[in-house]
Amino acid sequence: MSEKATLSIRGKCIEFPVYEGTEGDVAVDISQLYPEHKLMTYDPSLASTAVCRSTVTYIDGDKGILRYRGIPIEKFVHESPNFIEVAYLLLAGNLPTPEEGKAFRRRLTENELLPEPMEHYFSRVPKTAPPMALLSAAMNNLACYHTEFLELDNDDQFMEISARLISKIRTIASYIYRRTHYLPLIYPNPNMRYCANFLHMMFSLPYSPYEVTPEIEDALNLILILHADHEQNCSAATVRVVASSRANLFASCAAGICALWGSLHGGANVAVMEMLARIHEGGLSPEECIKMAKDKNNPFRLFGFGHRVYKNYDPRAKILRAACDRVFAKLKTQNDPLLNIARRLEELALSDSYFIDRKLYPNVDFYSGLLLRSMGIPTNMFTVMFAMGRLPGWIAQWKEQHDAQGRIIRPRQIYVGNNETDYTPENMR
Ligand code: SDX
Repeated sequence: MSEKATLSIRGKCIEFPVYEGTEGDVAVDISQLYPEHKLMTYDPSLASTAVCRSTVTYIDGDKGILRYRGIPIEKFVHESPNFIEVAYLLLAGNLPTPEEGKAFRRRLTENELLPEPMEHYFSRVPKTAPPMALLSAAMNNLACYHTEFLELDNDDQFMEISARLISKIRTIASYIYRRTHYLPLIYPNPNMRYCANFLHMMFSLPYSPYEVTPEIEDALNLILILHADHEQNCSAATVRVVASSRANLFASCAAGICALWGSLHGGANVAVMEMLARIHEGGLSPEECIKMAKDKNNPFRLFGFGHRVYKNYDPRAKILRAACDRVFAKLKTQNDPLLNIARRLEELALSDSYFIDRKLYPNVDFYSGLLLRSMGIPTNMFTVMFAMGRLPGWIAQWKEQHDAQGRIIRPRQIYVGNNETDYTPENMR
C-alpha cells in the first residue's frame, strides 16, 4: 500500500499520492488537485514545489552537500581540476572512459570556431553593450547556423550539439570581451586545453601570446566546475519551462542566460565586487554595509550572502575561499584589499544575530569574483563566466525535460482583479 497524504477542506477529504526520492526527499503529488477538485496550492516562489524528478544534481541545504550525478563536488577539487570531465558527467550521467573523454575533447576542438558571419555581429556592438545581452543573443544566433540541431533525435546528436555549445560559449565570451574593449579577435588554438584556450582568446595579442600559468588554468577549471549545475535554481528552472513547450536547446539556454543575469542570481558576483570596491574606495565601511543589509527600509542586500537552499555555508564558497587564499598567495597578493574586506564582511555577518537567525552564509558568488578578478577578467564579464560554467548543467536539465516528454509547464493564478465590469465608450469616460 503506497503512502497517502490527506487534505481536508470545505467538508471534503482529499487523498494524494506521496513520493520519496533516493536521498529521502518527500513530495505530495497534487497534480490532480485542480482537474478533480478545482482547488490550487499557492507557492509564488516555488520554494515548496518540485517541478520534476531529476538525477543530475543533489543538494542538502542543511548539511551543505552538493553532488553531481552522486559524486560530491569536493572530489573534483584536486591538483588538476578538469571542467570538461565534469561537463561530460553531467551530460552523459557517467564520468568519461579515456576513449569517451578523448572523443568528447575532439568534438570540442573541432567546434571551437564561430561561423564567420557571427564575427560581423560582434563587430557592430557598442563598447557599453551588456555582455549578458550579447551572450544570450549569440546563443540564439548559433541556431541560425546549426539548424540540423533544432530537433534532436538521438544521443549522438545531443552530445554533438552539447559539445558545440560548450566549446563555442568560450569563443563567444572571449569575443564579447575583445569587442567591448576594441581589441582584435583572437582565434582559438586547437592545441590548447579548454580553459587555457579560453584565456588565450581573452588575453593574447596578435604579436604576443598570453602565457597561461598552471595556477590560473586550475583556478578557472575549479570555478567552472563549481558553477556547472545546481539543480532547480532560477535559470535551470527557466530552461525547463522553455523546454517544456518543446523549444529547442538554443532557445532554452538563451532563456537560462537571461534568468541568470539578475542580481539575485548570477548577477550577484558582479554586485559583490561592486560592493567590495565601494567599501575599498571609502564610499562605505563594512559595518555600514552590514547595517544597510539589516535595514528593512533599505533595498540593499549583502550580495554573496544567503541562499534559498543552503542554510549552512555553501560548499562552493568554502572551496572558493580556500582557492582565493592559494591563488593570491601564489600571485603574492594575499593582502589584496578587496579580499581582506570580504573576509571582514564575512566575519561581521557570521557573528551578527540578523544573519545567524536567518541562516545567511556566504554563497558561491561571494568569493568567485575575487578569483576571476585575479585572472584579469573584468567585473562586467563575471556573470558570463557563471554562464560558461553553468551551460553543461542547463543542457543536462534540458535533456531530462525533453526526454520526459511531459506536459507544457503552465501554472495557474489566484485572480484578485475586477469582477465583471461594463465597457464605457470613450465619449462617456
Ligand atoms: C545564486 O538557487 C540557486 O541554486 C542559485 C545559485 C546557483 O548556483 O544557481 O546558488 C546561484 O544565485 C546564489 C545567490 C546569489 N544571490 C545573492 O547573493 C543576492 C543576495 N542574496 C539574497 O537576495 C537571497 O539570499 C537569495 C536571493 C539568494 C535567496 O532569497 P530567498 O530564498 O527568497 O530568501 P529571502 O529573500 O526570503 O530572505 C529570507 C530573509 C529575509 O528577511 P526577513 O523578511 O525574513 O526578515 O533573509 C533576508 C531577507 O531580507 N536576506 C537578506 C539577504 N538574503 C536574505 N538580508 C540581507 N542580505 C542578504 N543577502
